Parts: sequence; C-alpha cells; structure tokens
Amino acid sequence: MERFGANFLIAGVVTFLLGFFLQGVMPIITLRKVPVKTVEEMAANPPDSFYQLAEDYPVEFQKVYGEANPQSFAKALRTGRDVYVAEACWHCHSQFVRPVSNEDLRFGPVSTAEEYQNDMFLPHLFGTRRIGPDLIREAGKRSNDWQMAHLYDPRSVNPWSVMPGYVWFFDADRRPQERALALVAYLQWLGSWVQPGARQAAMAPAAAPAPGGAG
Ligand code: HEC
Repeated sequence: MERFGANFLIAGVVTFLLGFFLQGVMPIITLRKVPVKTVEEMAANPPDSFYQLAEDYPVEFQKVYGEANPQSFAKALRTGRDVYVAEACWHCHSQFVRPVSNEDLRFGPVSTAEEYQNDMFLPHLFGTRRIGPDLIREAGKRSNDWQMAHLYDPRSVNPWSVMPGYVWFFDADRRPQERALALVAYLQWLGSWVQPGARQAAMAPAAAPAPGGAG
C-alpha cells in the first residue's frame, strides 16, 4: 500500500485543484461582469399575481403592505424568502433546473447562472433534495388561490401529498396572514423573469427533419 502513497497524494491534490478551479475560480471569471442586482431592482415590475393578491385579500393585504407597488413587492419578496428559509421549504424543494434527465420537460427552461446573480439568492436556495418538485419556474403555474389552499392543507388539492400544511400562516378564519401573503408573492415571483412562452418552447418536440433528408 505504501508504494501507492505518492499516487494518492498527487490524485488528491489534482482533484482539489480541479474542484477549486471549477467551483471557485470559474464562477468568478464567468460572472465577473454581471452586476449583482438588489432586491429593489428585482422587484421593479411586480407581476399581475401580486396586484391580484391585493384584490383577493384586501383587508389582510392592506394591513401588512398598504398598497401593491414595487416597494411593497420588495418587502413581500424579502419576507417570503425569509419564511422559505425559516420553514425549511428548501429541505424538500430545489430551485434549479439542471440540463440533464429532461428536467426542462418537467419544470421549464434550464437555469442559467445570471438568474441567481442578485440579493434574493444570497444565500442561494438551490437545494439538494427533491421530495417535492423544483420551484424555480413556479411563477404563474398555479393561481394565488391554489397556492393558498395548498399552503393551508396540501392534501386538499393533492390527495397524496406528503407536504405539511402551514396552518399557522393563517388566522382562525383561514384568512392568510403576513407569512402566507409573502410566501405566495415569492412563489409567484420565482421564474417570472423568464420570457412567456419559453416553457412551452422547451416542452415542444424537436422539429422533425425536413422530408427528403438533408441535402
Ligand atoms: C416534507 C417535504 C416538503 C416540505 C417541507 C415542503 N414541501 Fe412543498 N411539496 C412537497 C411535495 C411532495 C409536493 C408535491 C405534492 C403537492 O403538490 O403537494 C410539494 C409541492 C409544492 C408546491 C406545488 C408545486 C407545483 O406547482 O406543483 C409548492 C408551491 C410548494 N410545495 C411550496 C412549498 C413551500 C413554500 C414550503 C415551505 C413553507 C414547502 N413547499 C415545504 C414537499 C414538501
């Protein structure tokens, strides 16, 4: 065994250097010129779902956010992200569509590095396990009402779900409180920057070769 010692040492050092280059140096080189956006910049154009939230739950919304505008949206995004971290949603959900295993067919367009270059992803929430589906393309997949019902009791919309219900985000009348409003605003934001139609394009079958073959 001893005579292999040097080989193991060299293999270890090479692997370390490769890892350091790929995960430490490469991201810096690739993203050096992409500015890190602030939460306010990310919240500059609230999606329709946020205005809808204000209409659907006027009393509760008004109490926490006043009006629906970019400022209140930034506040909701911050709280939503914090609740997502605090409740360990990331323990069961990833936020990264990988370019393998046809993941784009299930979740939508493959993730790109630029998408994560902003304060909303510090810390990043890529996740390591998928007990539930990836959420980085969740925006617009479901209605606000579906999200609320699902948060309160996942089994009410998905009988076989193993996701826990988060009843403490709601009051005794099952009206959403701050954490529920913020989380739904956050979920409806995840991936809202992807061009409409990109998901459909990713899911469309590859174009058939022209009849007559390539010429
Ligand atoms: C114990 C694991 C677990 C935890 C913790 C968990 N989930 Fe889930 N989640 C699931 C599973 C499984 C599903 C798929 C079944 C379903 O729709 O309920 C799911 C589905 C979802 C969906 C629906 C995705 C879609 O469009 O199909 C959303 C949104 C979601 N979870 C958000 C959350 C949020 C927000 C939290 C934290 C407050 C959370 N989850 C915590 C397991 C989990």
